[in-house]
Amino acid sequence: MAVIATAAAILSALHLLALAIGLPAVVLRALALREASDPAALRRVFAADAAWGFAALLWLATGPVRAFGPFEKGATFYLSSPLFHAKLGLFLAVFALEIAPMAGLIRWRMALGRGESPDVGAARLFGILSWIEAALVVAIVFVAAFMARGFGLAR
Ligand code: HEM
Repeated sequence: MAVIATAAAILSALHLLALAIGLPAVVLRALALREASDPAALRRVFAADAAWGFAALLWLATGPVRAFGPFEKGATFYLSSPLFHAKLGLFLAVFALEIAPMAGLIRWRMALGRGESPDVGAARLFGILSWIEAALVVAIVFVAAFMARGFGLAR
């Protein structure tokens, strides 16, 4: 029992730390993308992007384990919670919006790796997508808080 409870606490802490890293990171990425033609700002874009990517991995590593493992309220609770489905839907929306910036920033890194200056023409679009993703993460936090307290469940 103590092992499960300890693991549950660690998973919960990592899940919340992902938020403490991810939300500021995607906002800082959006801000740095405004000056993407400036090499110093581009380095900030890449640093924020790396932190955002790390946060996404933390959410993916801890979220499903918490939902479907023996650590929280169990799979039946979450699968019967409309808010859990809403949360997953919002998370998938963030992922879908992230495909273009993720691919674009990989291209930029590769261009720099070849000693070329990257075409940052899409920086404005990636900035707008980053702001929308940040807003979706904030929405997920509210949905998660209500979900965790059983809102939306059939009584
Ligand atoms: C952007 C991504 C995510 C954010 C910002 C996020 C945020 C949160 C927050 C703030 C809580 C704590 C809620 C509270 O106790 O008041 C939480 C709990 C939880 N999250 Fe996430 N989460 C994310 C992704 C995921 C994913 C992908 C899954 C599962 C597939 C997931 C499953 C859970 C579970 C099972 C809990 C525990 C809820 C409970 O205490 O019953 N999360 N999440």
